[in-house]
Amino acid sequence: MLTNKKIILAVTGSIAAYKTPELVRQLVKQGAEVQVLMTRAAADFVSPLSLSTVSKNSVYSSVSDNDQWHNHVHLGRWADVMLVAPCSANSLAKMAHGLCDNIVQAVYLSATCPVLVAPAMDEDMWIHPSTQANVQKIQSYGNTIIEPEHGELASGIIGAGRMADPERIVQFVAGFLAQKAEKQALSIYKKALITAGPTYEKLDPVRFIGNYSSGKMGIALAQNLAQQGVAVTLVLGPTKETVSMPGITVVKVESAQEMYAQCEAVFEEMDLVIMSAAVADFRPAEQAKEKIKKKEDLDHMTLELVKNPDILATLGQKKTKQVIVGFALETNNELEHAQAKLVKKNADFIVLNSLNDKGAGFGTDTNKVTIISTNKPPYELPLQSKADVAREIINYISRS
Ligand code: CTP
Repeated sequence: MLTNKKIILAVTGSIAAYKTPELVRQLVKQGAEVQVLMTRAAADFVSPLSLSTVSKNSVYSSVSDNDQWHNHVHLGRWADVMLVAPCSANSLAKMAHGLCDNIVQAVYLSATCPVLVAPAMDEDMWIHPSTQANVQKIQSYGNTIIEPEHGELASGIIGAGRMADPERIVQFVAGFLAQKAEKQALSIYKKALITAGPTYEKLDPVRFIGNYSSGKMGIALAQNLAQQGVAVTLVLGPTKETVSMPGITVVKVESAQEMYAQCEAVFEEMDLVIMSAAVADFRPAEQAKEKIKKKEDLDHMTLELVKNPDILATLGQKKTKQVIVGFALETNNELEHAQAKLVKKNADFIVLNSLNDKGAGFGTDTNKVTIISTNKPPYELPLQSKADVAREIINYISRS
């Protein structure tokens, strides 16, 4: 089940550390290569000699031992998964706050692999608001918690906080890695280009023509694809949303012309292109160098606008191997307009948003869409979070 998997087991100072030789034994039995790290407190509960014997590897208790430096960055990259078990309340707090005063924290902060955390502590410590806040914090960093069990604790109290049984942890790790491999195999795309957010078309140094798009839908799509191992280029218009995730290269742009240039530069190498940006169709014919002054004797002002490139339509014409997905935001005759865009822009799918649907469209955290394609009837999705909409869109186009 774990054949050739490289696992870092980080043992921290909790009584449950006495169970770790059995945990290592089971991981090794399943075919994993295990590198054990320990904090100094962990050595009060389990001997490094036991762990090095069962893991068949030296145990690292410090960033350097004698005259040897253990490259924590290398360790964090070497592993398929890092398992912190048992994770004490103290180590959990350090992980939540980025402290780095021992080898476990140094490797954790450097790890590019997924990190699984099996907390172990007395019930009162486990349910304390600060511990629970720390759990949420490390989950928000993308780490996964292996929930502690209910049972007899070191204090003699019966309650929650006991480290999950070694057998359950091994099953969890195996299931986690199998699911990750399945996701990677599932993704038929290697490289994806996504546009998101609004564009701003400059009028003068202080004014622009723009729209209310937040970019949240495109960001959710980028995150979903990156989680599946797809290399994503996200061309992002001006928005206050920030994106930082391994696998996503963010290219910030302001105007439609800039967005077009960045998309064109990478289009050829892409397998999947999703244009969710709300691109301004027109821009001011001229950008004034100085602020445009109000003319006291004029009650009206006319702005001359010129057409922007239609990024989706232009790339649609250049399509070779790419699957192209466009968006359509409509207020009336929605299906008809979306279907017309599918043909006109040579897209494979159009994701239709109707401004008549509550909770759909710009700025919200939810969306309600219908996916249009040539050979199938419209596929209507319920109102749900943008993350769930993203997952359903990707699943649908991957299956089609
Ligand atoms: N789009 C684009 N470049 C533009 C305008 C739109 O790439 N200059 C893309 C959008 O990212 C979206 C799709 O085209 O994927 C449809 O955008 P939408 O604004 O709904 O349609 P328009 O073509 O602008 O047509 P209209 O405004 O008349 O509805």
